[in-house]
Amino acid sequence: MYSFYTDEIIEEVRINNDIVDVVSEYVKLEKKGKDYFGLCPFHKEKTPSFSVVPGKQIFYCFGCGKGGNVVHFIMNAENLDFIESIKLLAERAKIQLPEGENDEDREKAKLKQEIIKVNTEAARFYFNILKSEKGQEAYQYFRKRGISDQTVRRFGLGYSSMEWSSLYEHLLDKGFGEEAIIKSGLVLPNKKGGYYDRFRGRVMFPIFDIRGNVIGFGGRVTDNSLPKYMNSPETPVYYKGRTLYAMNLAKNSGQKRIIIVEGYMDVISLHQCGIINTVASLGTALTESQGRILKKYAEEIIISYDADTAGQAATLRGLELLDDIGCNVKVLTIPEGKDPDEFIRKNGADAFNRLLDHAKTLLEYKAAVLTKQIDTTTAEGKLIFLNKISDLLVKVDNSFEREIYAKKLAKDYEISEDAIITELYKRSKPKANFRATAVNTQETVRRDIVKNTDKDEEKIIHDERMLLAITCTDNSVYRVIKGRMGAEDFINEHNRQIAGFIFERLDQNKGIVIAELLNVLNPEVAKDFARIVREECNCEDNCKAVLDIIKRIELFKLTQRQQQILKILSDKTQRSEGDVERLKQELNSIIIRKRSL
Ligand code: GTP
Ligand code: MN
Repeated sequence: MYSFYTDEIIEEVRINNDIVDVVSEYVKLEKKGKDYFGLCPFHKEKTPSFSVVPGKQIFYCFGCGKGGNVVHFIMNAENLDFIESIKLLAERAKIQLPEGENDEDREKAKLKQEIIKVNTEAARFYFNILKSEKGQEAYQYFRKRGISDQTVRRFGLGYSSMEWSSLYEHLLDKGFGEEAIIKSGLVLPNKKGGYYDRFRGRVMFPIFDIRGNVIGFGGRVTDNSLPKYMNSPETPVYYKGRTLYAMNLAKNSGQKRIIIVEGYMDVISLHQCGIINTVASLGTALTESQGRILKKYAEEIIISYDADTAGQAATLRGLELLDDIGCNVKVLTIPEGKDPDEFIRKNGADAFNRLLDHAKTLLEYKAAVLTKQIDTTTAEGKLIFLNKISDLLVKVDNSFEREIYAKKLAKDYEISEDAIITELYKRSKPKANFRATAVNTQETVRRDIVKNTDKDEEKIIHDERMLLAITCTDNSVYRVIKGRMGAEDFINEHNRQIAGFIFERLDQNKGIVIAELLNVLNPEVAKDFARIVREECNCEDNCKAVLDIIKRIELFKLTQRQQQILKILSDKTQRSEGDVERLKQELNSIIIRKRSL
C-alpha cells in the first residue's frame, strides 16, 4: 500500500520494535496479567485506560479510542506520517532502509550490500576448498557425520584452510574494498598492521538471512579442540538476536509448525531427513525478536533443545518468552539425553515424527518439571503440587482447554479432579467480556425477518471485520473459513479487499499477525481493527465465533435476496409467468435455508 518501502521492509521494522519497549519510552506501563496498562498519552486521564497487548503487538485506549500497531503509536506520539514513523523506528532498531534520501543513508546501504557480497564470495571460497584436495579431511568429517553431497550444497557448507590469510587475499584479488572486508568480520588485524583470516581450519556453516543472503558464518573444529564453534561477530548485516538459522528454508516448508533446535548440525540433520520446518537459535538465548519471527511464520512452535541442565533452563526461558508473546508452544524432549541430530541419525525420521506427536504443552512440561522438584508421593507434596499446578492452570485462557488439562493432570498425578476444579474456582475472576459469542443471538434466533435495516448492514460489516480480526490473531481458524467463505463473499468492498490480502497469505501458508495487517490499512481502519481486537476478540472459542459470523453473513445475504425477490414479485411490470414460478421456488428454498441455519 505504501509504495515507498516494500511491505517486507516495513514488516522488518515493525518486528524489530517491540511495542512494549517503544511505548515504555513514552508511557509508564504496568503489567497486569499478560497486558500492560498506563495513562493514555493521547488524552487527559487520571485512571489508566491505555493498554498494550504484547502478544498481539498492538495498543488501544479504551478512553479515546486511539489504537494500532507500533507504527501508529509513533505516528500519534511524534505527530509523524507513516513513512516518517517507519524511518524513526528503523533508526531505533538499527535497520538500514533502502534507497536513503541523503548521502549518509546511501553510503550505509551501499556498505551493507558490499558486506553481503563479501560474505557470499567467502561462502563460495570455503565451499570450493571443501571440494578440493585441501578440504578432503573436512569433507570426510561431514561424511562421517552422515551429511550427503546434496546437503553440503543446500547449506553451502565449506572449509577454511589453515593458511593465515588466504581468504583475505582472495577477497582483495576479487576487488573488494578494505572497509567492506574488515566490517564483514571475516578478517582480524594482526600486530604488523595487516589482517589475517578469522576462520582457519574449520568446517564452515554460512548463516543466511530470511531472504537467503549470506550474512555471517559459524565454523567448527573437526576434532576436540576448543573453542568448538566460532561465529562471525555482529556486523552491519548480522544481528545474532534477530537471526534464526535456516529460517530462509523453513519458512517455505508449508507446515503450520516450526521446530527450534540449538545447533547447526541439528538443523542440517533434520533437514536432510526431510524435516525442513526446523531452525536453530545458535547457542544464544532465544530473543523476543526471534520469537516474533517464529510467531509470524508458524502457528505452533516446538522447542527441542538438549536435555542437559543448560538446555532445560533454556527451554523454560524460551517457553515463557514465546508464551508471553502469544505463541502456541510445545516442548519435545529427546530421550536418553541425545540431541536431535544424534537421535534422528540413529532412529530415523519416523521415530522423530512420533516424538513430535508427543510434544508437551507448556503446562505439561512445567508439571513434569515440578514433579521432579516436589515429592508428590506424600500428602504434603501433593498439596504443594496442587497449588502450583492450579496457579499455572488458571492462566490457560480457554475454558475447554482448562478442563481437559484438569482431567489429564488429575489422572497423571493421581489428584482428585474436584480438588483441582475447586482450586481453579478460587483463583478465577469474572471475565470482562464475551461479546463475540454472546452478541447477536437474538438476531440469529429471529430467522424469519425479511428485511435488513441499515443498522443490520452496519452490524454485518462490523461482523466481517471481527471475523478478519480473529483470523489474524488466530490463523488456525482459517481452516474453518476456507471452503465456507472466500474473499469475494464479503459484503463490504473494503472488507473484501482486506480479506483478499489475508486469505492470499494464508493460502500460501505464510502466517499473518494482526499488527502486520495494520501496516497496510489506513490509520482510521487500523484504529477500528485495534479496537475490535482489544475490546471484542475475547472469544472463548474462536472457531465457534467465526462460524457464527459466517452464518450471520449468509443470513444477511439470504434476507437481502429474499427482499429483492419480494420486490420483483410485487411489481407487475417487471415479471413474466415463467419468472414468477422460478422466483417463488427460489423464495421457498431461501426460507428453508434460513430455517436450517
Ligand atoms: P555438534 O557437536 O557439532 O553436534 O554441535 P551442535 O550443533 O550439536 O552444537 P551444540 O549443541 O554443542 O551447541 C549448539 C550451538 O551452540 C552450536 O550450533 C553453536 O551455534 C553454539 N556453540 C556451541 N559451542 C560453542 C562455542 O564453543 N562457541 C560459540 N561461540 N558457540 C558455540
Ligand atoms: Mn550435536
